[in-house]
Amino acid sequence: MAINDAFLSELKMRTDIMDLVSSYVSLDSRRQGRTHKGLCPFHNEKTPSFMVYEDTQSFYCFGCGAGGDAITFTMKIENLDYIEAVKLLAERAGLSMPEDGYDDSLTKKKNRILAANREAARFFHSCLLDKKNSHALNYFLNRGLSPQTIKHFGLGYAPDSWDSLIKHMREKGFSVQELYEADLVKKSTKNGERFYDNFRNRMMTPIIDIRGNVIGFGGRVLDDSKPKYVNTADTLVYKKSHEVFAMNYAKNAKEDFLIVAEGYMDVIALHQAGFTNAVACLGTALTSEQARLMKRYTDEVVLSYDSDEAGQKATKRAMQIFSDSGLKVRVLQLRGGKDPDEIIKKHGRERFQSLLDGAENDTEFNLIKIGEKYDITVSDGKMSFLKEAAQFLATLSSPVERETYCLKLASMTEVSADAIRQEVNKNLSSVRRKAKKELFTQARNYSAGTEDKINPDKKKYVLQAKAEEVILVTLFRNPDFYKKLKDELTPELFFTSFNKRVLSVLLSILESGRELDVSSFRDSFSADEIGRITYFSDVCKEVSDTIEECFECIETLRNAKNKKSFDEVSAMSDEDFANMFKNINK
Ligand code: CTP
Ligand code: MN
Repeated sequence: MAINDAFLSELKMRTDIMDLVSSYVSLDSRRQGRTHKGLCPFHNEKTPSFMVYEDTQSFYCFGCGAGGDAITFTMKIENLDYIEAVKLLAERAGLSMPEDGYDDSLTKKKNRILAANREAARFFHSCLLDKKNSHALNYFLNRGLSPQTIKHFGLGYAPDSWDSLIKHMREKGFSVQELYEADLVKKSTKNGERFYDNFRNRMMTPIIDIRGNVIGFGGRVLDDSKPKYVNTADTLVYKKSHEVFAMNYAKNAKEDFLIVAEGYMDVIALHQAGFTNAVACLGTALTSEQARLMKRYTDEVVLSYDSDEAGQKATKRAMQIFSDSGLKVRVLQLRGGKDPDEIIKKHGRERFQSLLDGAENDTEFNLIKIGEKYDITVSDGKMSFLKEAAQFLATLSSPVERETYCLKLASMTEVSADAIRQEVNKNLSSVRRKAKKELFTQARNYSAGTEDKINPDKKKYVLQAKAEEVILVTLFRNPDFYKKLKDELTPELFFTSFNKRVLSVLLSILESGRELDVSSFRDSFSADEIGRITYFSDVCKEVSDTIEECFECIETLRNAKNKKSFDEVSAMSDEDFANMFKNINK
């Protein structure tokens, strides 16, 4: 059941979308006044195409098509379901949720998983301090962790047993099914269904989100056996590719940049040494979602991945993702140890601080990497190095930056800056040609409608979809046209299934005389689909807004329908055709 309307309209009155969005996105107010523009928080972009409309209390991104009202915004940005988003907004507005009626079974389920995780974390922590597991505590102490750090991160130990967690959690009132949904237990189906602890004989690191919930665990072996880590799989409360380890602490650090390390142990060691702005991604390569989460708290990251080959590869990939997300990137060249943990342990925090002070920006990092491939003390090596370096410099978009590095390379190689500049310029035009071609391909794909994920039928029925959209947009803007159109307009007239669904809900709202509002579509459409509906209702300008145009479009669709049934007949096989006649004759 839905949340009652009176409460929702109260919530809407008390929530200003501008206030809400500005706490996540910095918005420029344009001179026109009530439309505000910013960088979209839902996809990577460098020029703003994300709009907030005060008049309609809605948002829309021209780049990725995300759109909707305050509730949709909250659902998408906080990764919440509908009820949770309403709750969060209610809290923000100082309203208490109505007691009655609405279906919050999903929220309840998630809360049970979170409660189970919290209790499990408590259990693992107490096992770590249990005398009979002193080998586990010694493992952490031998790795240089202080008791305070162990407590601060809530570290623990999962005993070497198949069911010690299950037993403990049962006593605390959790069902095995709940533990299964939290991925705390696994199921075996050999000889009937049987459950067993997922984490056994492992050092446990709880993963805590920015709101302080325990959402999952990483479990490391105590020796060199494999697999080194067992991690919580994705659950209702945990999506590995979206979360950043230690962000709950790092977001409060006083530095204005984040240190991104590879492993849990690195982050924990860094925090213990006072670098409380360190975070890590969780057992995956960095994703753009994680980069965007970091972007909410900082404009700059310092990558400090392991110095081995895998770490350097990951560095290159991460640099790209971070810069696509609009973050400034510097790269730490680790010296004196393979990872931050080892460097701090061997040489102390000052050494890491001095590496941090000298961290190269990504251009320098790339040039150093190119330099490592050649011996520039011989003239052949020097030439090859300059050729490749010039190719790389040509990809930099800033002329100032290109010039700076031409000069640097000149003094480094004792080749004239002019010669290097020429080499860079030679590459410049081919780099530009390539970029232009890419842009063109993108634009062509887009206008051909090949990439419409919301309404995939659009590809097949380009013209019809256009006519449908004119009708929808005009009707959203002029609900009073409904009376004149209703006899002519039925969902069956539409070709594409998404537009058809929108029309049928729209018609039923207009028929009932209810207020026309994007949120009335929520029950039947996903948050992504709401984006398109917002485009129809608040954003699209390519209609003349007249009833005549609607009638023309209806005519277009009718003609296409007739033609379609004709085409279908002519596409019949001879046999089908004969059968049809047989039936008619009967
Ligand atoms: N990882 C994983 N599964 C593995 C290996 C690694 O999920 N089998 C993830 C973990 O999140 C780990 C990170 O990748 O923290 C980095 O791996 P690694 O450097 O091997 O682990 P550390 O945590 O740094 O452990 P240690 O320093 O004890 O070797
Ligand atoms: Mn490591």
